[in-house]
Amino acid sequence: MTWQGLGFIKTNKKMHHNHSHDYNEQAPITRGETIRWATFYDLLVKFVTLGKDQALRRKTVDFAQLKPGDHVLDVGCGTGDLALAAKTAVGASGTVYGIDPSPEMIARARRKADLNAMDVQFQTGVIEKLAFPDNEFDVVLSSFMIHHLPGDDLKAQGLAEVFRILRPGGRFLAIDINFKRQNLLTLIHGGAAQSDPLQDKIPAVISEIGFTNINAGIAKIGRQYSYASGNKPA
Ligand SMILES: C[S@@+](CC[C@H](N)C(=O)[O-])C[C@H]1O[C@@H](n2cnc3c(N)ncnc32)[C@H](O)[C@@H]1O
Repeated sequence: MTWQGLGFIKTNKKMHHNHSHDYNEQAPITRGETIRWATFYDLLVKFVTLGKDQALRRKTVDFAQLKPGDHVLDVGCGTGDLALAAKTAVGASGTVYGIDPSPEMIARARRKADLNAMDVQFQTGVIEKLAFPDNEFDVVLSSFMIHHLPGDDLKAQGLAEVFRILRPGGRFLAIDINFKRQNLLTLIHGGAAQSDPLQDKIPAVISEIGFTNINAGIAKIGRQYSYASGNKPA
């Protein structure tokens, strides 16, 4: 039984008939699998990381080699923990945006930013149509999001948008579940092989888009995580 099977992940079709009552921002249309249960999501992440969720965010930020002053976007930011950790790394001179189609995820992310008095801009939005100008960001991050994009076409469309908004020389880093081997994360997603690990298809997709300096494999942050990265040519 997968999270979709249990009704935890809403497809866009359902979203139209299931407007949130506690949040009045419209969910943008996407074929992506949107998560609307923001509070439970944080508990789930705490559970699957055995309480090391904040350490995972810090390791991801270290892996991304963010520098003070960087202009960063987290696509599919969920409840905002990675974006908030990124803000700590880029400091006052840097800027961090987080986008997600789920108004509930964005509401929770904004509350965390307010509570911690952190200046991170959280907005509803979708990777396949990013509301940012060309050549804008030094680094784009995506964490556990690519497997929420069904179909190679949607992935390619989203990653082409990431390429467009990166500045020349800018870097993209995606991390996701390593779907190659069974682990706690693959177990709750219905088993390994439910999705392609990032190292399988994403390198070819981003190479086709124009990314260079492409790397992919098991992420340094843990064997249960995969990564793919690349640069927009300078
Ligand atoms: C597993 S969560 C990961 C959230 C967060 N990045 C993290 O590391 O905890 C996947 C997120 O992708 C979002 N998502 C689904 N379709 C999307 C799309 N088309 N564009 C951007 N994000 C999308 C979901 O709403 C969800 O918040």
